[in-house]
Amino acid sequence: MSDAAQHASPASSLAPVFSTVAEGDLTLDDHEALAAMLARTFDAYDHWYAGARSWAGMQPELRVVARDGDVVVAHAGLRRQFVTVGETDLLVTAVGMVAVSPAAQGTGLGGELLRQVDAALERLGSRFGLLETGEAVQGFYRGAGWLPLGDDEGSDPVTGHAVTGHYTAFSADGAGVLVSQDEGWLIREVGATAADWPAGDIRWNGQMV
Ligand SMILES: CC(C)(COP(=O)(O)OP(=O)(O)OC[C@H]1O[C@@H](n2cnc3c(N)ncnc32)[C@H](O)[C@@H]1OP(=O)(O)O)[C@@H](O)C(=O)NCCC(=O)NCCS
Repeated sequence: MSDAAQHASPASSLAPVFSTVAEGDLTLDDHEALAAMLARTFDAYDHWYAGARSWAGMQPELRVVARDGDVVVAHAGLRRQFVTVGETDLLVTAVGMVAVSPAAQGTGLGGELLRQVDAALERLGSRFGLLETGEAVQGFYRGAGWLPLGDDEGSDPVTGHAVTGHYTAFSADGAGVLVSQDEGWLIREVGATAADWPAGDIRWNGQMV
């Protein structure tokens, strides 16, 4: 392709541009663009992402955003918060709303998104990233270095569960009630190793990102 033809190409043929943005630096237009993308990607929950409401549970403090022109095509939200693990209060960086726009899925954008999330985790400085995800997407995170909490050997002999996390449901659906999730918890080592992760259930005492 000639230089002229390349320059005439639509923005969608160019590589998306990533940025990492503090929540307080987002404009109303940014929130609307993020909410629109999240509603497209999590279409069963599009009522959560109405208008400029670009979050469903806890509002992030930092976003990793990829744009193709003005259109948001990939996103992750991060927020530092204390969780109680067993008997220990632990500062973690919660990661959520990890999404690649449906039309761009399967092209490597999600992998790049998680590399950018790693850089953001370093920047925020907590010792661990923490997220919860369904079985269908665990391989995506594991392939990028995220580690499942517990395994068959580490299961609680009483409950039989590896690790249970208790959190307040996303209140976009109404009152926030307590949810207990028995599987799907993953951590990312930042300033510590998995051996430093305390034993026991996770209590968020609030909502997740
Ligand atoms: C999950 C998601 C972010 C992945 O983004 P993506 O752009 O499709 O992923 P990529 O093409 O960059 O794939 C990166 C790697 O992960 C792997 N991968 C992607 N989705 C996977 C899945 N569901 N299970 C296992 N591996 C997966 C790819 O095979 C690829 O592996 P490779 O590096 O060895 O080739 C995207 O599919 C998405 O937004 N899904 C809907 C929303 C969602 O489920 N978000 C997660 C909520 S916790």
